[in-house]
Amino acid sequence: MAGRAGVPPRLCLLWCALRLAAAAGARRAAPHLVLVLADDLGWGDVGWHGSAIRTPRLDALGAGGVRLERYYTQPLCTPSRSQLLSGRYQIHTGLQHQIIWPCQPSCLPLDEKLLPELLKDAGYVTHMVGKWHLGMYRKECLPTRRGFDTYFGYLLGSEDYYSHDHCVLIKAKNVTRCALDFRDGEEVATGFKNMYSTNLFTERAIDIIANHKTEKPLFLYLAFQSVHEPLEVPEEYMKPYSSIKDEKRRHYAGMVTLMDEAVGNLTDALKRYGLWDNTVLVFSTDNGGQTMAGGNNWPLRGRKWTLWEGGVRGVGFVASPLLKQTGVESHELIHISDWLPTLVHLAGGHTNGTKPLDGFDVWKTISEGRPSPRVELLHNIDPMFVDDYPCLGIDNRTSSPQINSFLWDNTLFNISMHAAIRHGKWKLLTGYPGCGHWFPPPSLFNESNIQSSDPPTKRLWLFDIVRDPEEKNELSEKYPHVVKKLLSRLQYYYKRSVPVFYPDEDPNCDPAATGVWGPWA
Ligand SMILES: *[C@@H]1O[C@H](CO)[C@@H](O)[C@H](O)[C@H]1NC(C)=O
Ligand SMILES: *[C@@H]1O[C@H](CO)[C@@H](O)[C@H](O)[C@H]1NC(C)=O
Ligand SMILES: *[C@@H]1O[C@H](CO)[C@@H](O)[C@H](O)[C@H]1NC(C)=O
Ligand SMILES: *[C@@H]1O[C@H](CO)[C@@H](O)[C@H](O)[C@H]1NC(C)=O
Ligand SMILES: *[C@@H]1O[C@H](CO)[C@@H](O)[C@H](O)[C@H]1NC(C)=O
Ligand SMILES: *[C@@H]1O[C@H](CO)[C@@H](O)[C@H](O)[C@H]1NC(C)=O
Repeated sequence: MAGRAGVPPRLCLLWCALRLAAAAGARRAAPHLVLVLADDLGWGDVGWHGSAIRTPRLDALGAGGVRLERYYTQPLCTPSRSQLLSGRYQIHTGLQHQIIWPCQPSCLPLDEKLLPELLKDAGYVTHMVGKWHLGMYRKECLPTRRGFDTYFGYLLGSEDYYSHDHCVLIKAKNVTRCALDFRDGEEVATGFKNMYSTNLFTERAIDIIANHKTEKPLFLYLAFQSVHEPLEVPEEYMKPYSSIKDEKRRHYAGMVTLMDEAVGNLTDALKRYGLWDNTVLVFSTDNGGQTMAGGNNWPLRGRKWTLWEGGVRGVGFVASPLLKQTGVESHELIHISDWLPTLVHLAGGHTNGTKPLDGFDVWKTISEGRPSPRVELLHNIDPMFVDDYPCLGIDNRTSSPQINSFLWDNTLFNISMHAAIRHGKWKLLTGYPGCGHWFPPPSLFNESNIQSSDPPTKRLWLFDIVRDPEEKNELSEKYPHVVKKLLSRLQYYYKRSVPVFYPDEDPNCDPAATGVWGPWA
């Protein structure tokens, strides 16, 4: 009789033994992977960064694990989520510009092989709970078609925490439609009105944990609605914050505290049901805080939507009994695109089938404190960028293409383009990076913002971000050779980028007939 898979019998002894040992080893080693993503949680919104907002459960988890203090996300929801699940920069997926709006016929390209698919290949059971926001115009775009065994959540970017309705102005028809955006699997989920989404998502996540009665390892991606606007939270969570006078901030503080409790409940459940000892839990925000909706990134500059540190330097940590070092702060460069190779490696899987990855496996950096394999980080290049949220009428600069800075011509890179790159300690920004004020938390100062003295025509900045994370000392005139080097790196990436895919809205998205948002094509 021939050996398995055509291996001659005598060799089979050795080969099969190795296979079995490898399989047993992989099974023993493969940890449960729990990835918790907060929405719009700012740098200045967590206890360990000195916020007035209390986050005791997150503080404790981070303090007992590895806090990532030089960790980067993208400045917006869809971009961050696209990089998280594909391991690839937006210049390689066409999603450079803004987000996927509800009526755009677009989704994370279907030829990208995503993190949950790779983990499924590695033998995992894969569950997703919460916000998708990677496109839904066709069924093929839905989470259940992209590697998740189960899904419970909403497909668009934001909605009411209680009704789970989302309202959209369909421009071509000049009507605003409000409709339900809530699904269990691919079915519309009804019967959840007046239940706060964070509680619902946490309950579902705990349900998944409680019912995980299989040998297979678990992958749970829990993408909270918290703490994105609308600013809604049960009254009781705001009570500890009666001293915060700013009403938005007070609501927001309550929302953060509720989410903190939710993560506490989640980890309690992992312990209660015996999974924790073999779990790696990653906690991350998707982008910086939105200062117009209660969030804060103090002392960092800018906010959500911008390429300043306040937009992209993210709150994050890893908590796990499997970490070799704990109770430490990592100051190594880590990016949201790094989770795909890192988690797939932890899973004992392989990244076969993906396109060339921009992420790095950073497990040894996190677990053992080794230097990060990442020395460079392309924050983005968006040739279409025009600021949608000027600084509330104070700073009206947008990316007017006609204006260039004094020293730099456009031969190396068109510096009118909204772009930023990090290399080692250096960060270069070009074009209009977005609102560049510093926003002190309302509880700290009475100024609503501190403006920079940059002239409105300025189109290029260089910072030593390690020494100057607040982006106050612009150094481009002092280090022209560094500027040139980074501009040529930007040009290198730009030449290799795919065109922006940002289609017009399709009025067929209209949910008038069905009463729910969902695939229409
Ligand atoms: C859109 O509808 C509103 C009333 O609902 C009307 O005032 C407005 O003029 C309309 N705009 C266009 C462009 O038709
Ligand atoms: C956390 O668990 C407690 C106790 O079961 C429950 O009362 C609370 O609502 C939960 N909170 C969240 C946000 O899930
Ligand atoms: C991954 O792909 C390479 C090249 O195609 C192949 O040699 C290797 O066996 C694959 N690994 C697995 C685990 O499928
Ligand atoms: C430079 O970029 C700006 C902004 O994207 C664009 O409007 C302009 O056409 C570009 N200039 C050239 C020469 O490509
Ligand atoms: C900025 O725009 C706002 C609203 O359009 C306007 O009221 C304000 O005067 C403008 N400020 C400057 C400095 O141009
Ligand atoms: C707010 O700050 C200004 C100066 O920045 C100060 O004159 C004023 O007294 C402060 N107001 C309050 C209520 O603290």
